[in-house]
Amino acid sequence: MSVKILAIESSCDDTSAAVLSDDVVLSNVIANQLVHEEYGGVVPELASRAHQQNIVPVVQKALNDANVNKNEIDAVAFTRGPGLMGSLLVGTAFAKGFALSLGVPLIEVNHLQAHVLAHFIKDSSDSTNVPGFPFLCLLVSGGNSQIILVNDYDKMDIIGQTIDDAAGEAFDKCAKVMGLPYPGGPLIDKYSKMGNDTAYSFSKPKVAGYNYSFSGLKTSFLYFLRDSLKDNENFIEENKYDLCASLQKAIVDILMDKLELASMQTGIRTIAIAGGVSANSGLRDALDKYSHLKKWKTYIPKFSYTTDNAAMIGISGYYKYLKNDFCSHEVAPFARLNF
Ligand code: KG4
Repeated sequence: MSVKILAIESSCDDTSAAVLSDDVVLSNVIANQLVHEEYGGVVPELASRAHQQNIVPVVQKALNDANVNKNEIDAVAFTRGPGLMGSLLVGTAFAKGFALSLGVPLIEVNHLQAHVLAHFIKDSSDSTNVPGFPFLCLLVSGGNSQIILVNDYDKMDIIGQTIDDAAGEAFDKCAKVMGLPYPGGPLIDKYSKMGNDTAYSFSKPKVAGYNYSFSGLKTSFLYFLRDSLKDNENFIEENKYDLCASLQKAIVDILMDKLELASMQTGIRTIAIAGGVSANSGLRDALDKYSHLKKWKTYIPKFSYTTDNAAMIGISGYYKYLKNDFCSHEVAPFARLNF
């Protein structure tokens, strides 16, 4: 008999619910919150209110799409953290109530580990293309930039991370400086395809080990634009494609340099990427290039599993279910990094 898991994700500004049958996704519903666009970033207070409005219809749709009755659910998995506290509370409280009403176990999931385990989500029972252990995962999103050594589904160590801004934050903040709407990452990616990535160069950080830093790049981009606008007030508009391509190249180069170093020093050549920024075409191309040059075996998640989604919470919940790794109803969300 297969295990049916209902998964809930509400760590930031996407309300998502998924139903899995073992490791196969039956449904994965995501409600985005457009309310944040006009503010140029996620407004926590508005995010938690929108989760309150979305959570019941999103879960209902996930059950309907999966063609699963709520009484068939064997466990409820939810994102415990890290994330925005108000947003996490909505998903946590809902998951507890749902599990309690059905009399099924509750499974807490770490959002970051779930991004890594997104590589094990299957869309059908015969898909087999999953990374073997150990592997290195570059997790890059709006809040995180980490290199994670993955030894097993539940054995992961962060071996490098950003000491200031995340890669997605660098994309979004630089986009904002250019007057582009939030989130700027996807738009910078789109404009990059029409630009020359060697038109401009920006300073590279000097950080020890496998750690990252993006705040210097953001500042050098800001100063460069400020100086250029003094001479030509249309500078950004006239050069936006080249600016985006050059900026994207700088961010991707920073990410790949440390990933290459980590691969070289650990001897691990099974490499995965995860998180919202793993949708970036420049990063995907770079990974592709390295797979040929360095003989890496690379894993890039399906586009729909790169950004926040409940399917990744479901797959993490499934592996915990197999180990009877359940949590009590006294569990509270955590906002900050906890591995
Ligand atoms: O993982 P995610 O959906 O949310 C969290 O950070 O929790 O990641 C969102 C981030 C944003 O910073 C967004 O700009 C970035 O991922 N992003 C991209 C692309 N698509 C999303 N950045 C660069 N290129 C993209 N194609």
